[in-house]
Amino acid sequence: MKVGVFDSGAGGLSVVKSLLKHNLFEEIIYYGDTARVPYGPKDSNTVIRYSLEALEFFNNFDIDLLITACNTVSAHAINEMQAKAAYPVVGVIEPGIKALQNSQSDKDAPILIIGTRATINSNRYQNALETLGYSNLTAMQTGLFVSMVEEGIFEGPLLYETMDHYFKEIETPQVIILGCTHFPLISKAIKNYFHDQPTLIHSGEAIVEYLEETHGIKENVNETKLSIYASDNVEGLRTIANMWLND
Ligand code: SIN
Repeated sequence: MKVGVFDSGAGGLSVVKSLLKHNLFEEIIYYGDTARVPYGPKDSNTVIRYSLEALEFFNNFDIDLLITACNTVSAHAINEMQAKAAYPVVGVIEPGIKALQNSQSDKDAPILIIGTRATINSNRYQNALETLGYSNLTAMQTGLFVSMVEEGIFEGPLLYETMDHYFKEIETPQVIILGCTHFPLISKAIKNYFHDQPTLIHSGEAIVEYLEETHGIKENVNETKLSIYASDNVEGLRTIANMWLND
């Protein structure tokens, strides 16, 4: 099976890492729209336009399935993409919510949702979780993390300062939903900030579970061919891919 993975930039490599680890696909075509990252501060209409343009890119490849690794795209453009595409398009929000349910967390446990402005303002996570009865939600825009990941900053004092800026006033959550595919790349630092206490919900691992549950896609290949494309700064994406995927 050949899968496309679309992200606004480098963050979706965190999803690719999980797909590779679980040997799900013969071929992965990754496209990062590095010319226009970040999507998080943009209006919904712009995110939809960019996402539909990404579909045109994938028309060159005859893919069987498309994963929109970007939470911002999943929050704003998934319906439009599904309506246009000739193959299934899967976002990361529903899988994240399912992963939280599977984690058996208490309904009144403090849950922190972090994401871009567009994702948090869409209320997609908050509405879905409230409907399921989760009552102790804090949703926070942490867009600076996106730029840090794009710059290859995964640890260190600058990241710590940024986490402190966002998190210093809140109680330690029991669960953190990493509502942006860039954030798994700094998940160790986030977990450390909260003294390793919270469970982190990671889009990559969530989608692997989801694909098995909903599409019957499970570990079945020995080798995956990975091709990475970028709309700008291919070298930058290659550097992050080498760092993150170790190969
Ligand atoms: C962004 O492009 O601003 C972040 C991507 C995401 O929301 O996952």
